[in-house]
Amino acid sequence: MTTAHESAAPASGALTYPFHDWSQQLSPHYTRLRETGPAACPVVSEYTGDRLWLVTRYATAVQVLEDPRFSSAAAMAPGCPRQEPVELRAPGTRGNAIALLKEAGLRAVLADGLGPRAVRRHQEWIRERADVLMRALLERRDTVDLAREFALPLARQSASRTLLGQLGPDEEEQLTRWADLGLRFCGVTARQQTAAFADMHRFFLAHARRLAGTPGEHLLKAVSEAPTESGRLGDEDLAEVAELLVVAGYPTSSGFLCGALITLLEHPEAVTALNRDPALIPAAVEELLRHTPLATGSAKRRATEDVQVDGETIRAGEVVMVSMEAVNHDPEAFEDPDAFLLGRRGPAHFGFGRGLHFCPGNRLARCLIDAMVRTVSRNPGLRLAVQPEEIRWHEGLFFRRPLSIPASW
Ligand code: HEM
Repeated sequence: MTTAHESAAPASGALTYPFHDWSQQLSPHYTRLRETGPAACPVVSEYTGDRLWLVTRYATAVQVLEDPRFSSAAAMAPGCPRQEPVELRAPGTRGNAIALLKEAGLRAVLADGLGPRAVRRHQEWIRERADVLMRALLERRDTVDLAREFALPLARQSASRTLLGQLGPDEEEQLTRWADLGLRFCGVTARQQTAAFADMHRFFLAHARRLAGTPGEHLLKAVSEAPTESGRLGDEDLAEVAELLVVAGYPTSSGFLCGALITLLEHPEAVTALNRDPALIPAAVEELLRHTPLATGSAKRRATEDVQVDGETIRAGEVVMVSMEAVNHDPEAFEDPDAFLLGRRGPAHFGFGRGLHFCPGNRLARCLIDAMVRTVSRNPGLRLAVQPEEIRWHEGLFFRRPLSIPASW
């Protein structure tokens, strides 16, 4: 696809994006662009041919993500230049549940439902689940798969309890499959991707209200019961909110838990230190969020007017992308950025982004990562059963995830 904006961004010799770094190794292109490129580098989407700007430096990322002239909502509008092969929405839907909640006066319900009080209510249960899952593996004492048997069920069961209500096991699996199909750069056809979003939407049109009514204190219930000016959110809108919770909350948490587990197991000295002194765990969670890459693409913003970024003019309508992963490894911000250091000092990481669209699920995500780190640190004999470079990864996913994490004691 080409757009009216293609003439504006310089692209001769521009790299194609994404960089196909599906494993935990960040593409060297990020380092090269950060070291030798301009503050915003022109790249071309491999899938749409759209020309985009890519930001890899910490200071520029702060500037872009804190400037309201760079709009996230505008970057989701139909026809906007994009990195991904298809628009991330079911046909006929709005595709921006954040804007929808804001207009219905329910943004605060999202913030409260993911806020400190709500997360504290779930914290003990999440820690307990992590322990139960790990104990079951410990009893076996053979080689286990920490992705399939620990990180994924922990993320899935937590999403069910805190976000979506009581999903059946088949429903959880089906939603995971749709999210995996929809949120891809490659490996499926555009038709399959769009069908996955359409299927998920149909599922939630039929089931969101029922799920909202299932027992427990979950976000879907809070959103469905919250009063709006016109009464309460309609079925279409509730379905879109449920889709947002799946797409923003599940592949991120599950992929990140897997990646963070691998990082930890690659650093047995850190696990031993955490075992000796659990007071280090909160710092470990933050360092995991800085160090462990999650997305294989970038956060998008569209300029609503011409904006200067370090001497480069981003024209109105063009899209700037920020790679949180590259920014988190910028040596101008973080000394020895590729090292995993429990005692690291430095500026705030970009694991949850920055500015207006800072991840509202950050507390819940931190709670999950904290539970994982606690469980692993109580079992310092746990080891990867293969070399880290032998771990195989799903190819083409927006959010990195290994096929398995073989481990043993
Ligand atoms: C380890 C897990 C997670 C990570 C690393 C993560 C990371 C991020 C990042 C980097 C952003 C900013 C994107 C941008 O600037 O465009 C974001 C946004 C968002 N996250 Fe998370 N996230 C995680 C888990 C969750 C969970 C559990 C939820 C729960 C629903 C959630 C909900 C959201 C939502 C709704 C947004 C969009 C906010 C907006 O556009 O205003 N995230 N997340």
